[in-house]
Amino acid sequence: MQKFRANLMVCAGTGCVACNALKVKKSLSDEIGKRRLQDEVQIVLTGCNGFCANGPIMSVQPDGIFYQKLKPEDIPIIVEEHLLKGRPVEKFMFREPESKTAVPKMNDIPFFKLQVLRALRNKGMIDPENIEDYISRDGYQAAAKALLELTPEETIKIVKDSGIRGRGGAGFPTGLKWEFCSKVISSSKYILCNGDEGDPGAFMDRSIMEADPHVVLEGMIIAGKAIGATKGYIYVRAEYPLAVKRLQLAIDQAKETGLLGENILDSGFSLDIEIYLGAGAFVCGEETALMRSLEGKRGMPRPRPPFPAVKGLWDKPTVLNNVETFANIPQIILNGAEWFRQLGTEKSTGTKVFVLTGAMNNIGLIEVPMGIPLKTIMYDIGGGISKGRKFKAVQGRHGRHKLYGERGEILSRVHRGRILRQMPSLQSGDAGDVRQIDRYNRGKRKGKRHRASPRPFA
Ligand SMILES: Cc1cc2nc3c(=O)[nH]c(=O)nc-3n(C[C@H](O)[C@H](O)[C@H](O)COP(=O)(O)O)c2cc1C
Ligand code: FES
Repeated sequence: MQKFRANLMVCAGTGCVACNALKVKKSLSDEIGKRRLQDEVQIVLTGCNGFCANGPIMSVQPDGIFYQKLKPEDIPIIVEEHLLKGRPVEKFMFREPESKTAVPKMNDIPFFKLQVLRALRNKGMIDPENIEDYISRDGYQAAAKALLELTPEETIKIVKDSGIRGRGGAGFPTGLKWEFCSKVISSSKYILCNGDEGDPGAFMDRSIMEADPHVVLEGMIIAGKAIGATKGYIYVRAEYPLAVKRLQLAIDQAKETGLLGENILDSGFSLDIEIYLGAGAFVCGEETALMRSLEGKRGMPRPRPPFPAVKGLWDKPTVLNNVETFANIPQIILNGAEWFRQLGTEKSTGTKVFVLTGAMNNIGLIEVPMGIPLKTIMYDIGGGISKGRKFKAVQGRHGRHKLYGERGEILSRVHRGRILRQMPSLQSGDAGDVRQIDRYNRGKRKGKRHRASPRPFA
């Protein structure tokens, strides 16, 4: 494997791509070519780095120098000064808001320093379109352990003991859900991933799917083996074309490498995973509505019981988990339940990914231990309220319409329409072109290979 003295990790998440990250990358390739540095310096396009409001972003590894708000015309200076002369360029670094001093290293910036990355551990560190990058960071080791060393009961016990609760909103204990389904006897079962993410302003799941698609597949493989499923679907909203493209690439690469499909790693266990596009209806994020939608029917919730673990997709026992829930599973299997419990609170273990948005200085994606004070998130990580304004309230849990005060107390429950009017920076999903999405899904059912990048709005 070729070694490079510097890896230029250019963020190619949706936010940075929208502000010309690909032009920055082109300028980098041109400049590196001109200076004949291509054998020494490698450019890697990554998923969302997290500090979205400061994009386009590039970090230079292994030193961890962080550049932000880059323009294509800034690149020649960086290549000349940093890559040729070894002098990182202050002009494009993050500055402390008060002292205005430049902070060269990413991990010294308060936004990053106080985070603990578990579900997001590979963000900005790997090329999401290259399975080897994922494998080099312990990727698929947990799946190998679950398939070759552990029994389904042992896997479920580790997940139960870890205390992880589903990250999709309801907070149901994941291990318990798997256990219910594993005990049901059926000729076929399904494992589903909920990538619908309809909450306004949220992009945690999109970022994971874009930055680290293989971790979602690995979580599903482990869950599939634990419950006895042989078929899986990832339900993704069609407004997430980059996530869909990277997930499909990941599925194809995992199949080619023998990590997905028939007889994975010669373990005797087979799992096939397909992507299903949702048309962007908020209700289709709810589990029973999602399953109806996957069956090709109108996405409407149904009363429970029966619970999906007994009667789910096409009336077969089914487990549905959120993207972030799956992203936590491989690390739990590798490091153990106790390791996972070290962070968080007694009832809510581990970490949680949040999106900081609205009137904050630092906007982006963060991962913090459960139970961390709201104030730490707002002031230490979020950098405080923008333009030095006074704090009024935080809208939490997206669609759940609660406003929190400074001490975390609930101030009021507000109708979402009113919140959106009060906080115009929050955005809501778009319904998309249902007919094109239908054609995409039907094409897949007939076994047609779909385009790597479906363009549902083309
Ligand atoms: C109206 C409604 C919308 C929902 N939207 C989502 C969603 O977008 N993504 C998600 O993972 N869960 C969503 N949920 C929760 C799911 O029904 C389900 O509990 C979750 O996907 C299970 O995964 P988990 O156990 O890993 O959290 C929604 C629930 C309701 C009632
Ligand atoms: S998209 Fe680049 S930092 Fe989020």
